Amino acid sequence: MSSAARTWWKEAVVYQIWPRSFQDSNHDGIGDLPGITQRLPYLAQLGINVIWLCPMFSSPNDDMGYDISDYQGIMDEFGTMEDFDTLVETAHSLGIKILLDIVVNHTSDEHEWFKQSRSSRENPYRDYYYWRDSSGIDEDGNPLPPNNWGSEFGGRAWEYDEHTDQWYLHIFSKKQPDLNWENEKVREEIYTMINWWLDKGLDGFRLDAINIISKPEGLPDDPNIDFDKHGSSIPFVVKNGTKVHQWMHELNLKTAANYDVMTVGEMSQTSAEDAVQFAGFDTEELNMIFHFEHMGVDTDPTTGMGKWSIKPYDLVDLKEVLNTWQTTLQGRAWGSLYWNNHDQPRLISRFGDDSPQWRVLSGKMLATTLHGMQGTPYIYQGEEFGMTNVQFEEINDYRDLDSLNLYEDMVVERGNLSHDECMELIYAKGRDNARTPVQWDASDNAGFSAVEPWIKLNPNYREINAASALEDQHSLFYHYQKLIQLRRGELKDLLVYADFVPLDVEDAQVYAYERHAQDGSKLLVISNFTDQQLTREYGLLDQGELVLSNYEDDMRQTLRPYESKMYRVNAL
Ligand code: NOJ
Repeated sequence: MSSAARTWWKEAVVYQIWPRSFQDSNHDGIGDLPGITQRLPYLAQLGINVIWLCPMFSSPNDDMGYDISDYQGIMDEFGTMEDFDTLVETAHSLGIKILLDIVVNHTSDEHEWFKQSRSSRENPYRDYYYWRDSSGIDEDGNPLPPNNWGSEFGGRAWEYDEHTDQWYLHIFSKKQPDLNWENEKVREEIYTMINWWLDKGLDGFRLDAINIISKPEGLPDDPNIDFDKHGSSIPFVVKNGTKVHQWMHELNLKTAANYDVMTVGEMSQTSAEDAVQFAGFDTEELNMIFHFEHMGVDTDPTTGMGKWSIKPYDLVDLKEVLNTWQTTLQGRAWGSLYWNNHDQPRLISRFGDDSPQWRVLSGKMLATTLHGMQGTPYIYQGEEFGMTNVQFEEINDYRDLDSLNLYEDMVVERGNLSHDECMELIYAKGRDNARTPVQWDASDNAGFSAVEPWIKLNPNYREINAASALEDQHSLFYHYQKLIQLRRGELKDLLVYADFVPLDVEDAQVYAYERHAQDGSKLLVISNFTDQQLTREYGLLDQGELVLSNYEDDMRQTLRPYESKMYRVNAL
């Protein structure tokens, strides 16, 4: 495919749904598939044309659906296959495509393959997973794990199984054993399963944690592990292993390449140069990837705590990361654009200002900054009307195992952090920030459910909700709607296809860049990331026609707090 080739997935705007917290329809306090179907007209009004649906497969929910026990079944709490088919049909009738979230680095330990696998060393499914002998015994005679790898959610990445006297690998929780992609049968099972969904009419898929499927030969120790620090991050040595490109190519050839679908791979610790191979126009692996580099600008590497650290971010660092991705991929590969998802804090609390005075203005500013770039934008549920982070006082009000493990390890067991210190980390980085129920309106339970939800609501739902955003022509909702309209309509050539040109990379207060289209037309995007009034000069400012702003009027060189605008300059 040539780099300029036009495709629907380059022009798409994706909306991410995390079903458990989207909309409850059967009054059990848990979001479900019919609930999503009910809300489709709202999404059509917003203007998105693709949904990324987080896992809705059968699962014991140790990791909220990212532990799948049956790839062809629907989670009981979410409804039935009939409900799923209705959702897809209704979405299609509204011009909305649906991407599934396929989790195949690991399964649930309750998946039939793993049940078989753990039953005996001779079972034909034994080799579907990573089983290894102990590396020795400790002073008390207890078996020692095969290597020093740590799990993403804290603790060891190995679980000992007494029954067969071996350990199995789980990079995530112990209920998420890693599949052995070296085994051709595993890969074939996965491709068959993916095709089964594509044959049902699905429009593509996200591949969860897909750059860690190729483990290094001999499973060597990881030199970076520090168990004194709740070293909860994926062992570096499993990232982007030697066979991952070969398998992505194979997966593509055997599945997506035979359909008109879209693919996106989730890949932490992956550089822009790596992405050129994974999502290159000619490499036939994936259409695009989610990288994590900008998610790291507010972590402090000196703590050894991975994401569980807090550092105010520097706009110059953020620009450096995003600009590098834009310019490295340009003409060679396609990218995805996101500020938040179900694993990340809410964007306004993290990169903007969630105080009542600046919440909407800074939210619009962040939206414009991201949607002005090249790549396929993703909007996470509630982002479009400005949901914010949450702060529950008690750890018992949290549901995410990642936060619960941190607390158990660092507060309860080791006493390394006080309750307050740990809660500060959870307030800043915990995944439940993104997982409180969508705030549809100001009624009890926020219109999410008729009963108390599975996790508490953010108490600000009486002020911040979709209904009040819909009533206000100046709300964030209509700003997102306008951005989507421009990208899918009038400004398609500029917003989707034009080259990205960074401006003033050292400016620590303003993010500015241009887009240059083939026909000579240009776009200038300027965002003031501060609550101060600033003055800036840009070459295109005087010739440009204002196409979008988060203020009512335009003062050109004067940038008011969080002011953000787009100017178009037509070709001569
Ligand atoms: C990434 C998913 O986004 C996250 O929610 C999950 O916990 C891990 N992968 C493991 O599947």
